[in-house]
Amino acid sequence: MKDNNIRNFCIIAHIDHGKSTLADRLLEYTGTLQAFQMKEQILDDMDLERERGITIKSHPIQILYKADHKTTYTLNLIDTPGHVDFSYEVSRSLAACEGALLLVDASQGVEAQTVSNTYLALENDLAIIPVINKVDLPGAQVESVKHQLVDLTGCEEDDIILTSAKTGKGIPELLQAIITRIPPPERDFNKAARALIFDSVFDNYRGAIPYVRVFEGRIEPGQKMKSFATRHVYEITEVGKFLFKKIPTQELKAGDVGYIVAQIKNIRDLKVGDTITTLENEAKSPLKGYKEMKPMVFSGLYPVNSDDYEELRQSIEKLQLNDASLRYEPETSEALGFGFRCGFLGLLHLEIVQERLEREFDQNLITTIPNVEYHVTDRQGNLFIVDTPSKMPDMGDIEMIEEPYVKAEIITPPEFIGNLMTLTQEKRATYVNTHYLDPSKVQLIYEIPLSEIIYDFYDKLKTVSRGYASLDYEFIGYKPSKLVKMDILINNEPVDALSLIIHQDQAYYQGRRLVQKLRSLIPRHLFEVPIQAAIGNKVIARENVKALRKNVTAKCYGGDITRKRKLLEKQKEGKKRMKQVGRVQVPQEAFLAVLQLG
Ligand code: GTP
Repeated sequence: MKDNNIRNFCIIAHIDHGKSTLADRLLEYTGTLQAFQMKEQILDDMDLERERGITIKSHPIQILYKADHKTTYTLNLIDTPGHVDFSYEVSRSLAACEGALLLVDASQGVEAQTVSNTYLALENDLAIIPVINKVDLPGAQVESVKHQLVDLTGCEEDDIILTSAKTGKGIPELLQAIITRIPPPERDFNKAARALIFDSVFDNYRGAIPYVRVFEGRIEPGQKMKSFATRHVYEITEVGKFLFKKIPTQELKAGDVGYIVAQIKNIRDLKVGDTITTLENEAKSPLKGYKEMKPMVFSGLYPVNSDDYEELRQSIEKLQLNDASLRYEPETSEALGFGFRCGFLGLLHLEIVQERLEREFDQNLITTIPNVEYHVTDRQGNLFIVDTPSKMPDMGDIEMIEEPYVKAEIITPPEFIGNLMTLTQEKRATYVNTHYLDPSKVQLIYEIPLSEIIYDFYDKLKTVSRGYASLDYEFIGYKPSKLVKMDILINNEPVDALSLIIHQDQAYYQGRRLVQKLRSLIPRHLFEVPIQAAIGNKVIARENVKALRKNVTAKCYGGDITRKRKLLEKQKEGKKRMKQVGRVQVPQEAFLAVLQLG
């Protein structure tokens, strides 16, 4: 059975092309916003949700739209995360929909995430409605963007809807297109229950709450839900839909988008992309497409003060309740003491986690150089998975090291192709092909080691293209590379937390630069501090931090005790962010010095 009054869709766009503004305009035009703003109580609830760290914006939203005077349509707008680190979540959100609005900024045209999101939508067989937004801008280039969209999606020019999320132009036409061009969901209520988890949030009172799209059957309170990936069973206490807040309903049926409350203690029991069924009407197989999320970038997190280890452990544990893709395990470093090896989806994810631990949990952290995961085969044919340089087997025993590669897609105006070629060459990229989207936009495809992308590639790309080029990438597999482990010695002691895995051809150059950088970061001590880079037993670069003789309080004449104390306090403040490594004080930022080499 098909219910003609439901439409499930999402908006896909490159960052800043106007997704949120367009969603607000749809809510406003359909009166969804007004109806709720009038009820004070509901706004209070929204505040509460905000306090619990769940933002209204990331909710799916149900829009009730009276198309003519008779028919009311239920439009479920499902939000998608924007960044490449979370592209798997994007693809799951898309899998929950029948259609997608493909939004492109009229002044910017098609960008890297426009292309990658379009491919995801096509893979999920979604009906795509191409939309050119911001047509009110003086720099709007509607005709050329139309050509780019036709080239990208194979649509007709007439299919493209022109909107301004700022002035409201085109919104009625867009709503009409959603109703006529996006197919309604199939609705078979009698089949075994199958619902796709496309997102989840953690609520301190009600536990982890999955956001689901029901594909078949019904789900209602009192039933027992089971997830296919984890096999855990929980009793359902509430189901509901997303108006401006979560509104409980009696049931969720095939075609519906909603949430399930079942007092799930840990968000890791819910995996985005997994299927939920019920024991009452159990399905034999999950919906297609579940993929375990694998961390791609690894880094050590250590407390600046070793006494705070236990507190850091509790903070990471709590944070993980909210962030199912964060991995961690205890790790010990000779230099830094007890800490954690953490796995992230990408560098942005690492930054978010680090910032949340510092801001929300008040942790003072040392983060070590991020690295990817290597596959190392020794001379006996044993395979080792190495996620930290300190676990790398002895170089003499290694037969082969393989590293992860990505396919990178860069979209740029043609005048920057030369600069980008130089940049990609420095980053060990292999050129694959070029495709002109129109005379003003080129798509370049490369294969690049992931390790080259995670440091500063994106910033450099923006610099050499004056901000015009955009980037997207996906993991394609492992390839052998000539890699070596480089150790850093401070005051003749190897500092394990500073070791890195690097391409052989770059080792001398980067080793020299790294020790120079470290010399500028490590403060002078009462003795000379040598800093060396070494491969195996061979030192490839050396710098010295000269000895210091002056006492910090020497400037204080007489017995001015307050001034003296102030200076000492200031120094103590400075020390807080230092780590004692052997006899040497090493500042926090030195552990990330390699990121600052540029
Ligand atoms: P992210 O959530 O960061 O991915 O961005 P987004 O795609 O949701 O874009 P957002 O709605 O935040 O809009 C980005 C900027 O463009 C904001 O400053 C908006 O005010 C502006 N903007 C959005 N739509 C229009 C439009 O139709 N015309 C004009 N002139 N500006 C717009």
